[in-house]
Amino acid sequence: MEQTFAMLKPGVLQRRIVGEVLSRIERKGLKIIALKMMRIPQQQCETHYTEHRDKPFFSSLVSYMTSGPVVAMVIEGENAIAYVRQLCGATNPANAAPGTIRGDFGLVTQNNIIHASDSPESAAREIALFFDPSEVLKYEDGNQSWLG
Ligand code: CMP
Repeated sequence: MEQTFAMLKPGVLQRRIVGEVLSRIERKGLKIIALKMMRIPQQQCETHYTEHRDKPFFSSLVSYMTSGPVVAMVIEGENAIAYVRQLCGATNPANAAPGTIRGDFGLVTQNNIIHASDSPESAAREIALFFDPSEVLKYEDGNQSWLG
């Protein structure tokens, strides 16, 4: 079963829409197996976004992401990486389709509600950066027929 990492950005807590965003992930049938609210230390944030280190928006992005608490999570499911990216929509909310998280809740690219891993490699790296293995909780679903 595939695992992916996702993180709700500070504006989600400020706007009191954590539940609305999490419910979209759960409604899809994906399984949250780790979840925590935290303030990201600057160093950890820079490591997380290291591929964007040379971009003009890097320092502003790090500053925003460390400006308040985030909600970090590990999500499990068949094709979880692709499904979560699909739920998120395009990076720029102006290009994100209505019905997607970014399409419905955001206006500004930097503050685009949610980060989600884009590949198995980044998922593994990001999960390890944010979670100790003991924080990732496997559990049975009972009757899974509704998952299709
Ligand atoms: P995220 O999915 O967290 O991954 C990288 C982040 O960089 C992205 O969402 C945005 O928050 C931010 N980002 C990407 N492109 C731009 C841009 N052109 N201007 C400002 N921020 C950006």
